[in-house]
Amino acid sequence: MVSLYLIVTLSAISVFFLLNKVKRFHVKALHPLPPGPPGLPVIGNLHQLDMTSNLSDHLWRLSLHYGPLMSLRLGHVQTVIISSAEMAKQVLKNNDLIFCSRPVSTGQQKLSYGSKDIALSPYSEYWRDMRKTCTLHLFSTKQVNAFRPVREEEVFDMIDSIKTRFANKHVVNLSELLMILTSNMISRMAFGKRSSDYNDEKQMTGVHGLLLQCEAMLGCFLYRDHFLFMGWLDILNGSMARLEKNFKDVDEFFQKLIDEHVNSNKPNDMQEDMVDILLKLKQESDSTVELTYDHIKAVLMNIFLGGTETSATTVAWVMTSLIKNPKCLNKVKQEVRNAIGNKGRVHEDDLYKLKYLKAVIKESYRLHPVAPLLLPRESRDRCVLGGYEIPKKTLIHVNAFAIGRDPECWEKPEVFDPERFMGSSIDYKGTDYELIPFGSGRRGCPGMSLGATTVELALSNLVYSFDWELPEGISDIDTLTRPGPVARKKNDLQLVAKVYDHGCRVD
Ligand code: HEM
Repeated sequence: MVSLYLIVTLSAISVFFLLNKVKRFHVKALHPLPPGPPGLPVIGNLHQLDMTSNLSDHLWRLSLHYGPLMSLRLGHVQTVIISSAEMAKQVLKNNDLIFCSRPVSTGQQKLSYGSKDIALSPYSEYWRDMRKTCTLHLFSTKQVNAFRPVREEEVFDMIDSIKTRFANKHVVNLSELLMILTSNMISRMAFGKRSSDYNDEKQMTGVHGLLLQCEAMLGCFLYRDHFLFMGWLDILNGSMARLEKNFKDVDEFFQKLIDEHVNSNKPNDMQEDMVDILLKLKQESDSTVELTYDHIKAVLMNIFLGGTETSATTVAWVMTSLIKNPKCLNKVKQEVRNAIGNKGRVHEDDLYKLKYLKAVIKESYRLHPVAPLLLPRESRDRCVLGGYEIPKKTLIHVNAFAIGRDPECWEKPEVFDPERFMGSSIDYKGTDYELIPFGSGRRGCPGMSLGATTVELALSNLVYSFDWELPEGISDIDTLTRPGPVARKKNDLQLVAKVYDHGCRVD
């Protein structure tokens, strides 16, 4: 009797395993992985990716050969690159719930205080609550509007600083000034004080250095993230020590800011900054997420990192494209100057009049998205896309840079032509998948409205106040990009600013 029972049980188990195997074989046979360049054993395709070059450009060129859904293997990490609007829609809309997680890497874990932030944390109930809380209290239209005076003051200060320090004679390093502008803006909105004074170069280096440290943590290549049992190499080559040191600096910076807020006697009528709001939420027991200082620091890191370089880099790319296309530069100047007249400044409530300026920005987002691969996603389950198998835990990169150059979506994609957006309903809000500089879906950028307003305000004041020219002896500017998650210009944008006399009254 016992042996019969044993035979039946063993047969059942064998049949179960056999069926499972057949099922898996069937799935594999029916749905192959997306095509991609052949890789080597163990390292896969890692040797084919030059991390020191423009990765999105390189992946775009590969996708021209292998298609809009392309497989790569980075060590043991199965990776898929999305390079068309249709495939992006499949990932970011139709299967958003499957593709809305983020991969966990060692640098990401450190920088996010162990997944306590919004941008880098994998999808979870905690992440949903945290994102909801921050969207409501930090990124809502009401909150963005409350910081309007800060943005205007900082932009007007930058314009005045160019007028007094550089105008007509010296070359302006616009890339650097824009970074100072946006880090001052974000610092005032988030921490209640400027990151620097324009004359205090030392402090600027401090904050800028910190940004670079955060980026280094995010982008650092560690063996342990790609090869099982190889973590000891990261210790031997000093990468882990560097990561710890960078994290310590960043953590001390945020802790100091929090301490200053906890110990300050701010008058009640003084404007709240984001640290004040987060500290208030920490004290409220009915808040959905129980906030600790680590949660607050993780969110501050997102705001600091997400809000500074993105907006500054966008304006630098728009100005680069305008200088390379003088007809567009003249047209946008005329539009802004006609709309504003002799008012002296462009304010946020003037921006709705500037239709061509908005088209110019969209065209720049198409050709130079500042987060060309958005932020990486990870699949939460297996899925079939375009007839191909996407296994669970696949790393997904959506290549916005490639999509902006897809001839299926864009006529003469290589030409900078803002007119294509005049009278067109295509926008960057995340529902037109041919233009997704802010991503889309559950993980789309929550700071879009803040970022977009900052870009429009800075750009409109720059073209309103100055006639921009190339420095003497320079006939063109390059469009080379630095490697990294944010596509900064490799060489800073250096221009001459000739003050335009509006016969102004300045409010
Ligand atoms: C021109 C300015 C900006 C651009 C182009 C931009 C772009 C992006 C992109 C492409 C993503 C990834 C979206 C995805 O995976 O689908 C993202 C996410 C994010 N951005 Fe922005 N961003 C900008 C400004 C800002 C600002 C001003 C803030 C905050 C102050 C911000 C905070 C964030 C956060 C927290 C996330 C993570 C969202 C999540 O994972 O749920 N961004 N941004």
